[in-house]
Amino acid sequence: MNKIIEKIKKLKKEKNAVILAHNYQPADIQDIADYVGDSLGLSRHAAKTNASIIVFCGVHFMAETASIISPDKKVLLPNLDAGCSLASSITAEQLLEWKKQHPKAVVVSYVNTSAEIKAESDYCCTSSNAVKVVSSIPIEKDILFLPDRHLGKYVQTVLSRKLNIWDGGCHVHEKIGDTDFGQAEKEHPNAEFLIHPECGCSSSCMLKAEVYFDCKGIHLLSTDGMINYVENSASKEFVIATEVGILHRLKKINPNAIFFALSENAICEYMKLINLQQLYNALLFEQYEVKVPKDVADKARIPINRMIEIV
Ligand code: 13P
Ligand code: SF4
Repeated sequence: MNKIIEKIKKLKKEKNAVILAHNYQPADIQDIADYVGDSLGLSRHAAKTNASIIVFCGVHFMAETASIISPDKKVLLPNLDAGCSLASSITAEQLLEWKKQHPKAVVVSYVNTSAEIKAESDYCCTSSNAVKVVSSIPIEKDILFLPDRHLGKYVQTVLSRKLNIWDGGCHVHEKIGDTDFGQAEKEHPNAEFLIHPECGCSSSCMLKAEVYFDCKGIHLLSTDGMINYVENSASKEFVIATEVGILHRLKKINPNAIFFALSENAICEYMKLINLQQLYNALLFEQYEVKVPKDVADKARIPINRMIEIV
């Protein structure tokens, strides 16, 4: 076995640590992780682990969420530069201003947000539970949905419910919208299309589908939603519209199927910042700890727990 992999495994045991990795992480990080999943699955796992140290192989807001949920655990992010363009698309000041304009509105924040934003929110959601979270809110309530405009539109379409949607986006998924979807359909007539709702193309797919969930061959899914879909599908060909890191896991669970990335350039550079050496250093030096000030964490925990309890 590769030396560094052996060393990581040994150190992990000695320190009673758990390694969590997002579906977009590099293949070798996914392979060494104790748990690989989407934002919701990772939050759930962070909440229930008995480990003393959580090494979070993902981006900053994910480590922050783990630290908010498990304030007694040491949460480490191996590379502090791992940010998220979507989380940066709204600041706490902007949210406070927006709330002032809609004083009675319920605030639903995607988990891709800073701890300060979560602290000012009523509910958190991820791409896998956004529809359920919004439908749990009484119909007469005005809703501020942030920060992703495509996910917001998706929820609005599925529920036929008007939302106030922040005009934010993820630079990786936004660009997938520039891809020639029609051409991909021509090239792969028998494929199923699995599309992340953050994608720029998701809105046109919804229009095309008219009723999104009935559209043959097109499915809007979170990253774990894609994993579950492929696990249970008899199809042999899939076109995947999200960050390409997920292809590693998809190929592992269904080696007999063929997977195409709708855009091979859909690479989140933040997600690729962590490597095995940094993971080893994180365990060895217990770096870099992500901690949220107690007053912010106590407020932010409320919408996160509401989200975890709903589904
Ligand atoms: P998922 O929760 O679907 O894994 O999405 C997280 C994310 O960052 C998408 O870009
Ligand atoms: Fe953030 Fe986009 Fe990267 Fe996901 S893919 S972590 S939303 S920048």
